[in-house]
Amino acid sequence: MKKFELSLIIVLLVLGCSKATKTDKLSQSSYVNEKVEKYRSKFHFTPEANWMNDPNGLVYSNGYYHLFYQYYPNGTVWGPMHWGHAKSKNLLKWEHMPIALFPDELGYIFSGSAVIDKDNTAGFGKGAMIAIFTYHDPVKEKEGKIDYQTQGIAYSLDEGVTWKKYSENPVIDNPGIRDFRDPKVIWNEDKEIWQLILVAKDHVQIYDSKNLKQWTKISEFRFEDNPPLGVWECPDLFKLKVDGTEEEKWVLIISHGGESAPNGGSGTRYFVGDYDGTTFTTDQKESQWIDYGTDNYAGVTYNNTPDNKRIFIGWMSNWNYANETPTKKWRSAMTLPRELKLINKNGKYLVKSKIIENFKTITTEVLKEEITGHFPYDFQYQNLQQSKISFEAIVNDKLEVILSNSNKDLYSISYDKKTGVFSIDRSQSGNVNFNSNFKKSSFQKVNIGTEDQLAIDIILDASSIEIFINQGQYVITTQVFSNENYTDFNVKNKDGITINNFKIKKIL
Ligand code: FRU
Repeated sequence: MKKFELSLIIVLLVLGCSKATKTDKLSQSSYVNEKVEKYRSKFHFTPEANWMNDPNGLVYSNGYYHLFYQYYPNGTVWGPMHWGHAKSKNLLKWEHMPIALFPDELGYIFSGSAVIDKDNTAGFGKGAMIAIFTYHDPVKEKEGKIDYQTQGIAYSLDEGVTWKKYSENPVIDNPGIRDFRDPKVIWNEDKEIWQLILVAKDHVQIYDSKNLKQWTKISEFRFEDNPPLGVWECPDLFKLKVDGTEEEKWVLIISHGGESAPNGGSGTRYFVGDYDGTTFTTDQKESQWIDYGTDNYAGVTYNNTPDNKRIFIGWMSNWNYANETPTKKWRSAMTLPRELKLINKNGKYLVKSKIIENFKTITTEVLKEEITGHFPYDFQYQNLQQSKISFEAIVNDKLEVILSNSNKDLYSISYDKKTGVFSIDRSQSGNVNFNSNFKKSSFQKVNIGTEDQLAIDIILDASSIEIFINQGQYVITTQVFSNENYTDFNVKNKDGITINNFKIKKIL
């Protein structure tokens, strides 16, 4: 496997009835100063330096959302895994913390989760933060053995700053399965027991424990994929109420490496079904995906949130090119945190990824317009790559939106009402040649069906574009490495389209 080997201060609006032109001189100069770290996200989490992949140990405790993450502190490509650590009060502004978990004689520290042991079930102390992770033994792997992944635990009595590994690790031995990893532990309130969900090559296994140390396997979940999807990774299991009803369903999340996901590989899908505390079942016949872009992988949700919200964060990259993205000091960012909601749309359950509520607190409106009937519509705004563009489109036929700059970097978004296909094209978005797989995955699409009206939110940061369709019913997250900041927004179609509530908000 590849990896294992391997800103508005002045806005000048000149609004003709159909055309808006803005210049933002001050932020232009700050942009020049920031060129040193050209692609550094402004409001997405990035490590200060070096390599990062999956979010790990997402847990809320005493006013802070903790974010641990797969981290290699000695380089900008994947290497012996540690758990990096950051914390935040609002999920948007992050404080960097010391490395939490280091590799030891049992191996590298692969992905996993964290819980708060309020009742001291494990005996490490009341309220201990306990991490449950995969040990990946590189020595055994090199020797050609297959049982090199086991599960271990560690605890912290100071809110995740310092950690002690449990002396009797591993707590779950390898049963002779090569890919056996990524434990997500949840507190099952109905059964009043800890449960652990992990992936074993091509299926999920569920375990019970009273103390987080002894685990008993209780069930497996398999799904007949034809053709089979790549290795199963990073599972999650949680209950959600169907919006507007009292009905409760369970959602199982699985990420898939390899090349078989519709985005070309590194995709995260979900199943909606029932869970009786032992076995997960679903009537779902086909895969549904958390995100239809290339860059949202290995995402999982927070444990122990104060308001019971289901907050999801994904790694905003893709194994097909992650090791070669054109950044120097650090590599990779996390997606924006999203609140997952469940809806029933025409008899089909859909997991929505909504922009978190308090994202509002870091945005300021800089333009609001009704542009109904005025075409062509375009405007320039210097800080497009630190903004949120929102509008509602009544589409008769096709919608085409282009983001571009004077360097002719171009990112296009389109919707064809006849086919129901919503798509993006990043083939000319900027630097696309750093890796052939990045180029190969230039076109991404999702069939959203025939919609008379679309609500679209586009969130741009220094090297990413996140598109939320109809409040996150469908999401397309992609990395972009434009040669210059995108400054131009253009709605191409002349006829048959109405755009309402058009707004641009600057972020931070
Ligand atoms: C997912 C993954 C996990 C593994 C980790 C290793 O991206 O492959 O399955 O635990 O990355 O860094």
